[in-house]
Amino acid sequence: MRIIKFALTLMAVAVGSVAMAQTANVDERVEELLSKMTLEEKIGQMNQLSGGYQFTDMIREGKVGSILNIVDPVEINAVQRVAVEESRLGIPLLVSRDVIHGFRTIFPIPIGMAATFDPAIVEQGARVSAIEATASGVRWTFSPMLDIARDPRWGRVAEGSGEDPYLDVQMGVAMVKGYQGEDFTDPTSMAACIKHFVGYGAAEGGRDYNTTMISERALRNTYFPAFKACVDAGALTLMTSFNDVDGIPSTGNDWLLQDILREEWGFDGMVVTDWNSSGEMIAHGFAEDLKDATAISINAGVDMDMMSWGYIQYVKQLVEEGRISMETIDNAVRNILRLKFRLGLFENPYVDETLARKVAYAPEHLAAAKQCAVESIILIQNNNNVLPLKGVETILVTGPMADAPYDQLGTWAFDGEEQHTVTPLTALRKDYNVIYEPVLAYSRDDNTANIKAAKKAAKKADAIVVCVGEEAILSGEAHSLSNLNLQGAQSELIAAMKATGKPVVVVVIAGRPLTIERDLAECDAMLYAFHPGTMGGEAIADLITGREVPSGKLPMTFLRDAGQAPFYYNHPMTGRPNNGTETLLNDIPLKAGQTSLGCTSYYLDTGYGPLFPFGYGLSYTTFEYSNITLDKSVLNKSDYIHIDFDLTNTGDYEATEVVQIYVRDLVGSVVRPVKELKGFMRVTLKPGETKHLMYDLPVSDLAFWNRDMEYVVEPGEFQLWVAGDSASGEAITFEVR
Ligand code: GLC
Repeated sequence: MRIIKFALTLMAVAVGSVAMAQTANVDERVEELLSKMTLEEKIGQMNQLSGGYQFTDMIREGKVGSILNIVDPVEINAVQRVAVEESRLGIPLLVSRDVIHGFRTIFPIPIGMAATFDPAIVEQGARVSAIEATASGVRWTFSPMLDIARDPRWGRVAEGSGEDPYLDVQMGVAMVKGYQGEDFTDPTSMAACIKHFVGYGAAEGGRDYNTTMISERALRNTYFPAFKACVDAGALTLMTSFNDVDGIPSTGNDWLLQDILREEWGFDGMVVTDWNSSGEMIAHGFAEDLKDATAISINAGVDMDMMSWGYIQYVKQLVEEGRISMETIDNAVRNILRLKFRLGLFENPYVDETLARKVAYAPEHLAAAKQCAVESIILIQNNNNVLPLKGVETILVTGPMADAPYDQLGTWAFDGEEQHTVTPLTALRKDYNVIYEPVLAYSRDDNTANIKAAKKAAKKADAIVVCVGEEAILSGEAHSLSNLNLQGAQSELIAAMKATGKPVVVVVIAGRPLTIERDLAECDAMLYAFHPGTMGGEAIADLITGREVPSGKLPMTFLRDAGQAPFYYNHPMTGRPNNGTETLLNDIPLKAGQTSLGCTSYYLDTGYGPLFPFGYGLSYTTFEYSNITLDKSVLNKSDYIHIDFDLTNTGDYEATEVVQIYVRDLVGSVVRPVKELKGFMRVTLKPGETKHLMYDLPVSDLAFWNRDMEYVVEPGEFQLWVAGDSASGEAITFEVR
């Protein structure tokens, strides 16, 4: 036995050292392979197609470098075998998929994950996604989506981390680490793809794909930070965005893709277009035809073409015509080959075809998805502490989202399977005697005929849980809305339940912040669940029963009316900030003089403020912040701001608070946001418990891109808050010299 063990040890050392050597000399291997490739084979690597078997011949001819949207391990192995064993050079395919918030086990949509303010659980979710997706043969996902979003009319707010750059950074880096792991050659490592570079969420009017007008300074201070942080965290790929920024489509923007991404940030990963975003430069009026668009995108710095078919058709001609240099082609192919070597695809191109079903929905995966869902749900209102529903035996469960296993998974849940979804109805039946009257068949249903059945059923119930929100299709790509009120007859249903006089708990299950002010007036309590995924129902039941206590916080501002968009907490003050004395529509005297109402920045109908601010979220307990002090009131740029404070749980439930640290730079060489999130921490306290806490904030974190486009901390006076949301707390002033 000893001899065998020794031999095995020797083998392990040999394999390990080979793997190390392989990783160490990736670039040598890239150069050696590149030197053998024909121009046609190089172009083939730059071509990504959606499909598998139908491209077998092209794959055998070396005309395909990557495929997407195939998740059957048998098909993936089959087409991979053609690439590896039947093409001239045997270069393996990159197999990709949109694994946005889970593969089989679906986590809350990314805006829900952001609401956890818990990078650890988000990283765990990305790791679970990678384990399940790579088991099918997928080694590249088009996630995390890092687009800052300030306008909930835009359907893709569902896919990002909301309006704040700091939160965006924390969540993006967590997902990159979770997807890729430590060792990229590990078969469970899945290349991340940070997207959509850049400014896609600033689409005018919140209308998807629309134009954006973003200054370089706004790009650098707001839209770049998460991309830069993820590049620094080792993101292996990046995707260009559909939109133009100041008239230049990102897929043809060499300032973005060369000067910023490669020169300034040192990105050595691979750049892929969005779906046909190269070809769409024709529609933009930025390219004459597909051949022109191909030249523009490649010369701007794109390495791989997703589904425009332009590269495979025109690059050879463009090189022969001298419009694209061989150096440009070689650099693009280097980036692609480097990624394939880094992922160990040459050593390990195939997947175990029995693995996918073994790892899908593993208990630990479902447990992580449930924990993430619990932390993602925000307690918006809890009048008279109606929640948690205790001492209650019979409840009426109603509404179109109470038992919607498909829609509960949310947008971009391609490979989730609704038969595994636990809905609120299913989960609540384990805790209460449930009377179920859906009333509405789906979120847009405006048929109120069945409301009377619910009213009748309410008579037998101690309390009512109304599950409303959005079908999955109402958010996500190309699904913008100009009106953010609950669709169909959902609001009527809520009001009818309120009229019964029974306690009413509303659970909103949606893909974005909706305008729910009128619904709040018609209910006692409201939980807001951004499409919470496979285990969402169990999470909701745990919160309703009190087994869990809400800790979620809003990653986006909630509006009173869609007309307030775009609205975000970290806005400039303006020269005429609202001062709370605004005269509202119904208070305006007749024949009021032109300037008689005061001239500040607000709306006559909705006033100024949002419905709920960024970072807002209630608990079943209350927290008190006290003794907030800074160790110094005058600091140098190399200092740390040492913040001390006490946090007390002043209520009756053990609970977790997301403590938030905000800063304001009072005067700058350009106007500055009224507040900026600079840190947060999750703190769990027992009832009555007080913890003395500290947070060390580097003064260097106060840097911004200033009037001279320098990234600096400008001296002067600052304010700092330690609070439970972006609108609370008392400011502490300090100075930087
Ligand atoms: C889509 C999306 C992008 C996605 C890609 C592949 O149009 O914009 O986010 O990754 O195409 O499905």
